[in-house]
This record gives sequence, structure tokens and C-alpha cells, in this order.
Amino acid sequence: MEMTVRPRRLRKNDTLRRMVRETRMDKSSLIYPIFVREGENMEEEIPSMEGQFRYSIDRLPYALEGLMKAGVDKVMFFGIPDEKDEVGSQAYAENGIVQRALREARKQFPEMYLLTDVCMCEYTSHGHCGVLCGHDVENDETLKLLAKTALSHVEAGADMVAPSDMMDGRVRAIREVLDANQHKDIPIMSYAVKYASAFYGPFREAAGSAPSFGDRKSYQMDFHNKREGLKEALLDVQEGADIIMVKPALSYLDVIHEVKNSINLPVAAYSVSGEYAMVKAGAKLGYIDEAKIICEMAVSTYRAGADIYLTYFAKELAGFMDEGR
Ligand code: PBG
Ligand code: ZN
Repeated sequence: MEMTVRPRRLRKNDTLRRMVRETRMDKSSLIYPIFVREGENMEEEIPSMEGQFRYSIDRLPYALEGLMKAGVDKVMFFGIPDEKDEVGSQAYAENGIVQRALREARKQFPEMYLLTDVCMCEYTSHGHCGVLCGHDVENDETLKLLAKTALSHVEAGADMVAPSDMMDGRVRAIREVLDANQHKDIPIMSYAVKYASAFYGPFREAAGSAPSFGDRKSYQMDFHNKREGLKEALLDVQEGADIIMVKPALSYLDVIHEVKNSINLPVAAYSVSGEYAMVKAGAKLGYIDEAKIICEMAVSTYRAGADIYLTYFAKELAGFMDEGR
């Protein structure tokens, strides 16, 4: 038999393989999630996330410097306050942990792009992502606090805000308050398609934000559903979101693909704490090659359609990108 089509021809050597690559990664699309805490001289390793730390504000500049050197110039802040209460008042406090971290980062690294996660769960005594009415999270009351939180982040220097609470109508509520306060140019990256996921386990340990009763299934999405994800994405487009996020990433590549093909906004994907922890644990046991797995996970996420990638591996990945891996 005469074979005229031989796909292996283009796989012959590295030069050829690189030339015909369909997915190319770029450091400018990376965002590094970073935890900030109260106290001094703290660089506290997170037990379930080896290699990730909770930084006190005085230590933060060292972490940011390392990122900048690696070519990662975008960070997303998560705050761990000392005090939590029913209404999460430290989330929108003038001198809250994220607000102070923003001012410090802005001062030390004016060229860095600063994003914030906007949610209540790290700040509420009950660990839910909003205010409670009995055992239910009260949607519309929560919107007011989320809007207040987003505004206080922007006033402290945030370049972009990213609501992760999954309340209905929060993008509109945040857009309205920003617009009313001369912040029409601040974009909103919505965690639009956020599933109720066991992959957030290590994060909740890191932030001490696990709900004290029940779960988040009455606001985060059921992972059996894809069309509902599209509904959430389209709603947030209508409400004025600038970027749509899908979260987690690894088990949700079909959702990323669907969202990318259905809307005309940039799509972000968040490789969450559980993804990081699994890779770290597997590598530590010697079962997988950490660097190769990081690259393969990243490429598959971009290949699925992500334009922006949030990952705890941002620094390592930036290095691998430099090597053209
Ligand atoms: C806050 C928030 C969470 C994550 C991002 N923002 C936790 C949660 O929803 O329980 C998870 C990030 C991760 O697991 O890396 N709502
Ligand atoms: Zn939350």
C-alpha cells in the first residue's frame, strides 16, 4: 500500500514539532494568587500547599520581587484577617488586610497589575460567602457588602476586581458602585462559572474559610451542569463583566471550551488549590514528573480556550515558558 499521508513527518524532530505547535503560551497571561495575613515577619507555609505561603505585609515585597523577576507581573490577593464576624466587616474595612497589602504593593511595585478576590468567606465567622438569614445566605443583602468591598479594594489601589461569591446580580451591583465613584475604567473579572468543588479543600485550610455548617451548594454551581455554566456566563456578560472565569480548570476543560465558543469576552481559567496539592503530592511520592505535569496542565487549559491562567505554579510556569516547553 502506498501511503501519501504520514502525520509522523511533522513529528520528526524538535524544530519541526515547535514549528507546527498549535498552542503557544505567554507569560503575560499568568496571574498568581497570593495570601496575605496579619502580623510581622511571617512567611508561613501552607501545610496542604507545600511551596505556598501566607505573607505578612512586611514580607510581601520579597514575594512580589521574586514574581517580577520570573516575569509574572499580575497577582490576585486573598486576605486572611485576624478577626472575623457575622457580616465579614474586615472585608471592606479601610485598614483591612487586603487594603493594606494593596497600598504596600502599589507603593513598592507601581508597575505590577493588582487584582483582588472579592468575597466574604475569609471574613465571616461562619465561613459562608455572604450574610446569613437563618441558615441561608441572603443574596441581596450580600450584594451591598460585596459592592462595598470591591470599592474599598479599588480605592486602596486594585487594578481589577474579581467577585467569587456566586451571588446573583453581583457583577451589576459592583459595576454600579464603581461607576458611581469615578471608577468606570476598572474592569471586573467575574468568577462566573464557579462550581461547588472539592478541589478548593486546600485553599479553605489556607484561608481558614471552610463553612462552619453546611456547604456552598446553594450558591456555587452543581458540577453535573454545563449549560447552566453558559447561562451564568451570559448573565455576567449582560451585567457588565469584562472577563469571564471558569473554575476549577483541570476537570472543567469542556466548560472552558464551551464558554470560549459562546461569548466574545476573554476567558480566564483558575487552576485551584486542589490541583496544585495533587501535583505536589504526586511529585513528592515520585509518581509523576512535576515540571512536565505543570506544563501539560497549562497547555491543555489554553488549548481548551483559556486566554488567562490563574495558577499557584505561575512562577515555575513562567520559567518553563521561557524554555519553550
Ligand atoms: C472565595 C474563593 C475560594 C477560592 C477562590 N475564591 C474558595 C471557595 O469558594 O471556597 C478557591 C481557590 C482555590 O481553591 O485555589 N470564595
Ligand atoms: Zn467565598
